[in-house]
This record gives sequence, C-alpha cells and structure tokens, in this order.
Amino acid sequence: MTTARDRASVLWAAESFVRRFARENPGHVDPDQRVHEIAASVTATGTYTHTPEELAYGARVAWRNSARCIGRLYWQNLTVRDLRDVTHPDDIAQECVQHLRLATNSGRIRPVISVFAPDRPDRPAARLLNEQLVRYADDPRSAQHARILRELGWKGGEERFEVLPLLVQTRPHSAPEFYELPEDAVLEVPLGHPGHSGFAALGLRWHAVPAVSDMTLEIGGVSYPAAPFNGWYMGTEIGSRNLGDTDRYDLLPAVADLFGLDTRDERTLWRDRALVELNLAVLHSFERAGVTIADHHSESRRFLAHIEREERHGRTVPADWSWIVPPLSGSATAVFHRYYDPPDPSATPAFRHRPTPWAEGRPDACPFSGGVGVR
Ligand code: ARG
Repeated sequence: MTTARDRASVLWAAESFVRRFARENPGHVDPDQRVHEIAASVTATGTYTHTPEELAYGARVAWRNSARCIGRLYWQNLTVRDLRDVTHPDDIAQECVQHLRLATNSGRIRPVISVFAPDRPDRPAARLLNEQLVRYADDPRSAQHARILRELGWKGGEERFEVLPLLVQTRPHSAPEFYELPEDAVLEVPLGHPGHSGFAALGLRWHAVPAVSDMTLEIGGVSYPAAPFNGWYMGTEIGSRNLGDTDRYDLLPAVADLFGLDTRDERTLWRDRALVELNLAVLHSFERAGVTIADHHSESRRFLAHIEREERHGRTVPADWSWIVPPLSGSATAVFHRYYDPPDPSATPAFRHRPTPWAEGRPDACPFSGGVGVR
C-alpha cells in the first residue's frame, strides 16, 4: 500500500519530468493531458508506466545529468533497450548477454542501456548484484562478489582475469541465481606495448565494455533498479586506476621493473613513468585490436565542447571536478583548469548508487539471509 505522501511525491516527480520531456521534445505530447493521465494512474496504483519515448528520453537525460561522467557529449546516442516485461532471472541474464553483444559490436562499441522492470509500490523488481556486467574474479574490488559466488557453489575464480558470473536477485533477501557469461559475449584485449616487446609477457588484458550494473535509473518518480548501461572506455580508467591503483591490480612496480626504472627513490618518478607506459600500452592495444577507446586529452576537449553545446541550449552542466579530471597528467588536460556547476543530488532523471548489498559491517544490507553464510 502507498501513503498519500508517497503518491504525492511520485506525482510531483512525474509532473516535472513530463513537462521537461514536453519542453525538450516539442509537438510530441500535450503535457497537461499526460499529467492528468499519470495522476489517475498514481491515485489508483501508486505508480504509472512510461511511454517508450519517455523511457528513452529519461535514460538519456540520466546520462546527461551524471556529474562524474566526462563522456557526456554523446548522451543523445544512447541505445535504449526497453525490456520492462522481462522479469524471469534466466531471461534477465540472457538479455544481459545480448546487451554485451550489441554494445561490443565487434569492437565498435555502442553506448547501450537495457531497462528491466521498475520497482512497484508492492513489489520490488529484480536486481543485478554485480557492480558491472563484466568484472574479474581476481580484481580485489570484486573479492566479496567472488566469495558470495563460491558460497553459492561457483567453482571458478582460480585463474587470472577470470570473468565473474552474473548474479540476479529477484526478491529481497532471497538467494540470487548465478549465470556464467558465454566466452564469445565478452570481448577482451590482450595488452602489449608499442615500444617494449617484453610487455606482453606480463600477461595482462582487459575487457572491452564497461557496463555499470549497480546503479538505479530513476525517472520521474519511477525506479528501475536493473538497468545496466555502458559507454566505451577512456584509457586511464584501465591504465591508471584498474591496473595501477594499489588496492586494485597494483602493477606499477612490475611495469617499472620491466622498464628498468629505479624504484628505490621516489624522485626518479618511477611511478609516474610506469603509469605512462601502462596507459600507452592500453591505448595501443585497444587500437590495435580495433576496439573503441578514448584518450584523456581528446575526451577532455569533447567534454568542454559538450558544456558549450549544452549552454547554447540554455542548460548547465553539473560536474564533479574530482571525477572529471583524468587520473593521469591532470593539468595537461583542459578540464583541469576550471570549475564546474556543482552536482545537484536531487536532479532527475538520474543514475543513483545503491549501497553495495554486502557492504562491510552492514549485515542488514545483506542481499539474502537464508541458506548462505555471507555475514
Ligand atoms: N571506471 C570503470 C571501470 O574501469 C567504468 C565506469 C564507466 N566508464 C565508462 N567509460 N563508461 O571499469
């Protein structure tokens, strides 16, 4: 059951969304009539159903509103898959595989979102418990995920860069189902270096598609908890953070060794030089493999072009400086040298983080309590 207050807040969010939709898509709908229709539905059921056009527009604007994303210039090019009638966990997993295939597109990465059923007042929708559709079992960031999979009976995770299965949970506190991703749905790029033939022997690789699956898409008072979305990678995400961070693959010492850098003295800048070599290897390898990837200099310029274009449309571009500035050569990129409109936490449509279901010290947030000892 919903309270009058819940219904009023859904209606308020719906109305502001529908009016924005009508403003930005003139001639499409009569907003007064649409608000009227939605009000009737919210009164009767506590929620309402987006038209396919509202859903597509809402998902794109959620991207446009993502203050941490430097790649927003292409927000209108998001392919939106309307999968609201897909609810069985087997089918959800199958569609996630299909998502990866569509997004991968033999290397010419396409930005895609797959939107599954929304939460309803009486019935929370299915969730993906993965952080991303593709993550590796030996990435320290995925340790909890891998542990839960093993407790559910998964036998993998012995090798380096082994892709984790999907975890789909259909009801709160129930054990999730897990699904292996077919090998041919996950394009990966082996890493080599343009100037050092020994680099390949490090045996590194990374996957082509970053598909975030742990955020809830919120549009006009309706929440879509299962809505995995992807763009393409910017090299530094892999070369600086995923492979370089000390709490991730922590590879700077190994790369420095390979290049014969003196790691005893910070002032040799061995870390900085190793970072550059690692980032160079990532960009070189993706390009060689024909997989879309952005470099941080070009992407910085595109972001400033995005701001200009948005301003011409009378819109501001809220941005989080600490996320926008690339984690390599920050001050050598144009995005470093200015400030941005502060992110507005209540802006919608939006992608919102939900707490990690197995957050440390939060047993109440455990995704399932029956049967599996994950606490
Ligand atoms: N930084 C994350 C990763 O390295 C991916 C986040 C989304 N990135 C993107 N380019 N759309 O896996």
